[in-house]
Amino acid sequence: MFSTHPSPASLKLQDEDFQKVRKMIHDYCGIFIQEGKEALVRSRLMKRIRRVGVQSFSEYLEYVDSDSSGQEFLALVDVITTNKTNFFREVGHFNYIKNNIMPKMKGRDVKWWSAGCSSGEETVTMAITLLEGKQETAWRSVKILGTDISREILQTAKAGVYSSQKMMDVPEHLEKKYFTKVGNGEYKVNDEIRRMITYGRLNLTEKWPLKDGFHVIMCRNVMIYFNRETQRKLINRFYEMLEPGGYLFIGHSESIPSDNNNFVYVAPAAYQKR
Ligand SMILES: C[S@@+](CC[C@H](N)C(=O)[O-])C[C@H]1O[C@@H](n2cnc3c(N)ncnc32)[C@H](O)[C@@H]1O
Repeated sequence: MFSTHPSPASLKLQDEDFQKVRKMIHDYCGIFIQEGKEALVRSRLMKRIRRVGVQSFSEYLEYVDSDSSGQEFLALVDVITTNKTNFFREVGHFNYIKNNIMPKMKGRDVKWWSAGCSSGEETVTMAITLLEGKQETAWRSVKILGTDISREILQTAKAGVYSSQKMMDVPEHLEKKYFTKVGNGEYKVNDEIRRMITYGRLNLTEKWPLKDGFHVIMCRNVMIYFNRETQRKLINRFYEMLEPGGYLFIGHSESIPSDNNNFVYVAPAAYQKR
């Protein structure tokens, strides 16, 4: 049988095309693709090349440029983003929330944000943490916002269906309490949790149609893809979005510049607004 699709091995990503992708992505969403990442970009773009049915990278980039709807550019952004995540990732953060932040939520309308939520494991873990602590802390209501730039990954988050592999990070008693087996070895998040979370597409480097007053913002393992200047600006914008005394959690390989006096370090990769 003959295939009309270009064979992966035969396509070369020319430096000119690699540089063009780097610039397009950086200008649009701050993701800084390092020099030397040609193989990664190449393999990710191959998904679109096969889908669109063009014969070369330059032809594909011309197609992106000529698509006045902008849809193919967004599909390019979808494949370029790295969406790796898991439930209870960096669990120390959730223990910190349980012990130090939950008691402060007593009687309150909780407003938390996962910025760069990927497929939703972070928002679901936030919701489970809130539900597990409800008896002692008696918060009044909850709004968890999950935002990401990738349309595709947000579809997964909204569906709330996870593989048994993903569920290995969820303790068994919590799996029984908050998920339902739906066949194919997959698990769906229960409605009680889904009602607590709103998902939306948001580019962190553009304007945010959001109101401030968040108690907790998690932006973990997102800034690692940005350059220092973009990180610095983003941290200042998170500061504006937090209520006084609110908390910002970042990834363990990320940091807040040491000359930033707006935040106090409270735990590894966890900061409180002054
Ligand atoms: C590696 S995941 C991290 C997921 C989760 N926060 C965690 O720590 O497990 C990074 C996410 O950031 C998103 N992202 C990257 N650049 C973004 C931007 N400019 N605006 C919004 N989301 C972005 C990606 O689409 C991806 O889903």
